[in-house]
Amino acid sequence: MNLDFSQIVPYIPFMIEGIWVTLGFVFVSILIGLILGIILALFKITKSKFLTGIADIYTSIFRGTPLILQLMIIYFAIPQLTGYDIEPFVSAIMAFGLNSAAYVSEIIRAGIMAVDRGQIEAAEALGVSYRPMMQNIILPQAVKNILPALMNEFITLTKESAIVSTIGYLDLMRRAQIVGADIYRNFEPLLFVGAIYWVMVFILTKLGKAAERRLRQSD
Ligand code: ARG
Repeated sequence: MNLDFSQIVPYIPFMIEGIWVTLGFVFVSILIGLILGIILALFKITKSKFLTGIADIYTSIFRGTPLILQLMIIYFAIPQLTGYDIEPFVSAIMAFGLNSAAYVSEIIRAGIMAVDRGQIEAAEALGVSYRPMMQNIILPQAVKNILPALMNEFITLTKESAIVSTIGYLDLMRRAQIVGADIYRNFEPLLFVGAIYWVMVFILTKLGKAAERRLRQSD
């Protein structure tokens, strides 16, 4: 076995650029997943059977099929049906955002259920209406409990992002494959971007821990 990293040196700027591509769509996907996930979680805890049903079916579909399949449907199949091409970036944030929302909604639902019922009863007894009760009393407490689970979700998304290489989007993973094909050596570029993924997750983990500490201070 002979590893020779000198050959990838000219390609390093090309691969580094992939960091911003990957981070860019992962960040937007996380935002979409969070917003949609909160809405779905609220649907799931309402008394309306209709809203709960919609949210449950949504989760069942997006959690029950592979993310890569959802990505391919959005990128390859929908354009075939509608005649409109969907850019790789838009396909990626749609697939990852919609998929993540299914997981986030369950995380948030669990977090809300874990907040003591007495909190809701106390708010209701004090005449606090639904929106401020959720916004100022229930959700802030839920967020603190679910932060580790949410961080897990963000880490999963960051790593799963590598599957956009299958639609030719020039993310980190795709760039490593291109370099590998160019120099007829795969180990070095793959190890290189592997280290970058690891560092990204490492930083994310640290940020999550810092956020956790901050939230705990208010206890
Ligand atoms: N490989 C898994 C799938 O295809 C990943 C799902 C994404 N996970 C997530 N927490 N959003 O279903």
